Amino acid sequence: MTVPGKRDATFADLALPDAVREAIGRELRVLPDPGADIDRATARCHQVFAMLPLDLLRSVLDFGRHNDTPGVALVRNLPVDAQTGPTPLDGGPGRGKSGFVSEGVLLGLSGLLGEPLGVLTEKAGRLIHDVVPVAGGERTQTNQSSAVFLNFHSDITYDATGRYDLANPDFLVLNCLRSGPFGDAVTYYADARDICGQLPPDALELLRGPYFRLNAPGSYTRSAAGGAEVLSEPVPIIRGAEAHPEITVSANGVRALNREAGAAFERLQETCREVAHAVRLEPGQALLVNNRKGVHARSRFGARHDGRDRWLQRTYVRRSLWDIRYRVTPQDRRVHF
Ligand SMILES: [Fe+2]
Repeated sequence: MTVPGKRDATFADLALPDAVREAIGRELRVLPDPGADIDRATARCHQVFAMLPLDLLRSVLDFGRHNDTPGVALVRNLPVDAQTGPTPLDGGPGRGKSGFVSEGVLLGLSGLLGEPLGVLTEKAGRLIHDVVPVAGGERTQTNQSSAVFLNFHSDITYDATGRYDLANPDFLVLNCLRSGPFGDAVTYYADARDICGQLPPDALELLRGPYFRLNAPGSYTRSAAGGAEVLSEPVPIIRGAEAHPEITVSANGVRALNREAGAAFERLQETCREVAHAVRLEPGQALLVNNRKGVHARSRFGARHDGRDRWLQRTYVRRSLWDIRYRVTPQDRRVHF
C-alpha cells in the first residue's frame, strides 16, 4: 500500500526457513533436465515453490506484480546441488553438475515473476544463461568481463523498430553457484525511485527528454555489425509516472545528442553509485532484479579461468510473452530473434 509522502523500500531481504530449503531441495534433486520439456519443468518448479511459507511466497509474487514493491530482492538459504562441477570457461553451460537443483531454483523463482524467455543473440537463445568470466572478454562491458567495473545498465534487446527499451526482459533472476576464488564480486542495483529522489531537477528533466541513443548489446553488435555501433532511436533514459519511473540504460554505450544531456548522463552514473544497494552473492542465494524499475552494475573481481571462478545462472523473464510475439522464432515459442 502506498502511504503519501513515504518513500517505497527498494530492497528486500528474504530467507527460506531451513526446513523449507530441505523440502524444496529434496524435490529438485530428482528434477529431470528442464531442457527436455521446459514447460513441464516450469510447471513442476511452480508446484515445488508453492511450498514457500505464505508470507514469503506473497513477497515474491508482490515483487513481480506491484509498482510500489522493491526493485531488487535477495533470496537466501536456497537449496544447492550436491556437486556443482567446474565453472565453464567458455560462457556455455557447465558439465559435471550432479543434477538440476540450481536450474530448478532459477525456474521456480522466475515462474513466480513471469515467463522465462530466450533471445537468439544472447547465449544462443538458451533460457538459462551461465554468467561466468571468459578469457578475452575481461575488459568488455558484457557479462563476460571481470577486470572492469560493469557500469550501471539495463539488460536491453536490439529491436528492428529502433526501440531497445520495449522488448527487453521485465526481470532478471540470478542464482549463484560459486562466488569465485576471492568472493570479491559485488552486484549493485540502483532504483529509479531513489535515483530521481537524489538527482538535481535540471539533470532529471534532461534525462526525461528524448536526447539519448542506446547502443545495442555487445552480443548483438558483434554478431550483426562486426562490433560497430547499432544505435536506437533517440529515447529518454527515465520516463513514466513520477512515483513509479522506468529507467533504461544500455551497457554497451549511450550516445547523448548534446553536451548538456551528456553531462546529465554522467551525473546519473554518479547518482547510481550513491543510491545503490550492494550484494555479494554466495551459493544458495539468488537475486531478483526488476529490469524496468532500476539499473544494475557489477564490481571488478578476480578471475583465474581455471574452473573455480564465479558462476551465476540467469534467466530473462517477461510478465507475458504476448507483447513480443512479433519476435518469436518459428522453432521455439520461448525463443526470440
Ligand atoms: Fe546486466
